[in-house]
Amino acid sequence: MFSFVLLVVVIYAAVTIIFYTLRNGISPMPTGGRVNRVVLDVLHEINPTGRIVELGSGWGTLALRIGKRLPQCSVVGYENSPVPYVVSKLLRVVMSVPSVVFTRADFYAVSLSDFDVAVCYLYPGAMEKLREKFVSELRPGTLVMSHTFAVPGWEPERVVEVSDLYRTKVYVYRV
Ligand SMILES: C[S@@+](CC[C@H](N)C(=O)[O-])C[C@H]1O[C@@H](n2cnc3c(N)ncnc32)[C@H](O)[C@@H]1O
Repeated sequence: MFSFVLLVVVIYAAVTIIFYTLRNGISPMPTGGRVNRVVLDVLHEINPTGRIVELGSGWGTLALRIGKRLPQCSVVGYENSPVPYVVSKLLRVVMSVPSVVFTRADFYAVSLSDFDVAVCYLYPGAMEKLREKFVSELRPGTLVMSHTFAVPGWEPERVVEVSDLYRTKVYVYRV
């Protein structure tokens, strides 16, 4: 009986992840180790205060690390894929980071006007779509940080190249 329930859960999880990957145009692949470190170091150097939003928080690992590294900030992670979202909620309890909250939502449907920093790891189509949203909703001075994919047409304030296999770039913009 237990194995049957486990099998159903695993199949449900796999099907849901595949469904949302196709729908979103990206899988919940987490930010890798070296890129993670660079993102955290750059954020720590900038030392922002206020509210940070992660657009597509996946399994929650990056948001939770940001929350630990920047205890003066509150972090909101938006994720619409249910399995990574539930795991991120569990990790939040396990890692005990109350300054980070995860909300199940489509980030295109929430207002970004209350945030001081926006962090994302998405794909070119999403960056194009988000640019419009950033322009209309983010306050002047808001920091936008994206790795791997740039905001098309925007001039970054800073670009840091990670010493990984792909020479991943971390882009920092100021609205
Ligand atoms: C490549 S993963 C990055 C996960 C996490 N940000 C990290 O860096 O470890 C991108 C995430 O964005 C989520 N996503 C994509 N489009 C979304 C949308 N419109 N609303 C909410 N989440 C979305 C995906 O489900 C996926 O989990």
